[in-house]
Amino acid sequence: MLELTSVSSGYAGAQVLREVSLSLNAGEIVCILGRNGAGKTTMMKTIMGLLKASQGQIIFNGTDLTTIAPHKIAGCGIGYVPQGRRLFSELTVAENLEIGLMAGNKSSATLDKVLGMFPRLAERLDQRANTLSGGEQQMLATGRALCLEPQLLLLDEPTEGLQPSMIALIRDTVVALKKQGVGILLVEQRVDAVLSIADKVMFLENGMNRDVMSADHLRDNPDLLKKYIGV
Ligand SMILES: Nc1ncnc2c1ncn2[C@@H]1O[C@H](COP(=O)(O)OP(=O)(O)O)[C@@H](O)[C@H]1O
Ligand SMILES: [Mg+2]
Repeated sequence: MLELTSVSSGYAGAQVLREVSLSLNAGEIVCILGRNGAGKTTMMKTIMGLLKASQGQIIFNGTDLTTIAPHKIAGCGIGYVPQGRRLFSELTVAENLEIGLMAGNKSSATLDKVLGMFPRLAERLDQRANTLSGGEQQMLATGRALCLEPQLLLLDEPTEGLQPSMIALIRDTVVALKKQGVGILLVEQRVDAVLSIADKVMFLENGMNRDVMSADHLRDNPDLLKKYIGV
């Protein structure tokens, strides 16, 4: 479904990602682990076309994303929940979701499905995004991405700053999406929160793909966590 081949990118003169390759199949949860500054967010932005790849290919269902306009990438069926959520804070819950629906050209049936997953959003449709709790904001950011009915969902540190009940909800949502065949690329600092749901783990270090392994292998060899990310 998604195949990165030797992708490099960075910011004005400073290269961050260095020839990263990775593949992800439908219904698979792939977790990117790495220290702060390793390039995890940069990798997500590069997939979404927000940063231009200076080298390599990003093939999504047969299309090379590096060759199409950035604003068309979401419409290919890729939902993105950026780090720090990035909602339209002055807009209401309903308006934020509407933006997701428009990006994917989806109808109110999709909206009903998303509100079914997050009933708390349904109770707060007219509330402004910046008045929601942190957990509710994360639900909204996730709900907005799901309004595309994405085949692939990118989640950048979705549990950052959330309380345990909300972390459990995000986790359950990810597992439910996997069951529907959605591919999930997940950046997460809480190794314990992801190891039980991930299929594959990629260690990113200094913008390079140090290692990819099955989550089972990592569970059996926890010392690898110490080796790669020092925990
Ligand atoms: N907008 C930017 N301009 C210049 N450098 C940046 C920018 N954003 C991130 N970087 C740098 O790119 C590197 C990787 O950052 P990032 O991808 O955010 O790491 P991570 O998400 O793994 O913590 C860091 O060295 C960071 O300082
Ligand atoms: Mg980051």
